[in-house]
Amino acid sequence: MKNILVTGGAGFIGSNFIRYLFGPGGFKGRVVNLDKLTYAGNPENLLDVARAQKGRYAFVKGDICDFKLLAKLFKKYKFDGVAHFAAESHVDRSIFGPKDFIETNIHGTFALLETARQAWGGRKDARFHHISTDEVYGSLGRTGKFKETTPYDPRSPYSASKASSDHLVMAYHHTYGLPVTISNCSNNYGPFHFPEKLIPLVILNALAGKPLPVYGDGLQVRDWLYVEDHCAAIWRVMKRGRPGETYNVGGNCEMKNIDVVKGICAALEKYAPAAANPALAGKAYAGLITYVKDRPGHDRRYAIDFSKIRRELGWRPSVTFKEGLERTVKWYLANGGWVLHVQSGAYRKWLRKNYNR
Ligand code: NAD
Ligand code: TYD
Repeated sequence: MKNILVTGGAGFIGSNFIRYLFGPGGFKGRVVNLDKLTYAGNPENLLDVARAQKGRYAFVKGDICDFKLLAKLFKKYKFDGVAHFAAESHVDRSIFGPKDFIETNIHGTFALLETARQAWGGRKDARFHHISTDEVYGSLGRTGKFKETTPYDPRSPYSASKASSDHLVMAYHHTYGLPVTISNCSNNYGPFHFPEKLIPLVILNALAGKPLPVYGDGLQVRDWLYVEDHCAAIWRVMKRGRPGETYNVGGNCEMKNIDVVKGICAALEKYAPAAANPALAGKAYAGLITYVKDRPGHDRRYAIDFSKIRRELGWRPSVTFKEGLERTVKWYLANGGWVLHVQSGAYRKWLRKNYNR
């Protein structure tokens, strides 16, 4: 691949992926980042890349649902690779308002597939990679893990929209021979994570002395993966994954939510002790933990069997949860300016309206 279209590259995982491509990924070609800049998109996430990769990195503000724009970009840049991240990505938001999820995640994916099909004709040497989630498989009981063969059983408007887009991607492979791959990954964490998701929300609330909201009994389980490990997996699938195949990606790191929150408090006590933080007024960070009303339809447990990508492509996670969490906490402590910017504007208004927070 020489010319890659990254959609949603101004978001959390997409921006980490673009940085990975130009760094450890060793990519020598050009990246075009198409992003609508919703509340979750922030071009500031890639300022360093934009400066260092002049001529090899371009940003285009636009919507993946815009057929005309997509056709123009495919013609101009002659893409031979697509890494499709753009999505509405937060389960809680999908419960409050599913419309944008249907538009971007389903219609947007359709627009991209159709444009790639028209631009590529019967070409087999290109690659359309869809970044998806383990949430399409539904919720697990106490045992078992999601395999690529696990039947889809999405439970939230978010996961239903991602399941729908996965099906469209595979349909384009089976019907038109489009060279596609899909990766279904577990929960990511790391730098540039938008502070509506559990880990960054808890870090920033704790530093501000605000309650740390734990939904329900806090015993739900997620399988956490450091974002750079996810980026490495995506790049491996794009380069060497078999067209028409799905690859599950996970961290081998099942954690109960309450233990994640306690782990964050411990990491904060190490790098920014509560005793020296005036917002805590003498409390420990863990003293802020507050059980709140559960999320409707809250999936109980996710866990990923990633033996296929390990066996076929030699990928495995490399960062332990303790190491990844400490890196993440240090990143948020060092990037107060970024935090201020993403917490202003649309995000704050949404929080006030929906959560009264
Ligand atoms: P994010 O919300 O941080 O970023 C999404 C990006 O897409 C933003 O930059 C936003 O501006 C952009 N976008 C939204 N609608 C758009 C549109 N119509 N046109 C163009 N751009 C648009 O999300 P993320 O956490 O980085 O997730 C990226 C992808 O990875 C998503 O497809 C998500 O489903 C998938 N995924 C996420 C996780 C996770 O833990 N975060 C896990 C597995 C899979
Ligand atoms: P989240 O980061 O929203 O990711 P997802 O819903 O895609 O798994 O949530 C991770 C887990 O943390 C999930 O079980 C819901 C829970 N959670 C809380 O307990 N409190 C919170 O404030 C948030 C945002 C999530």
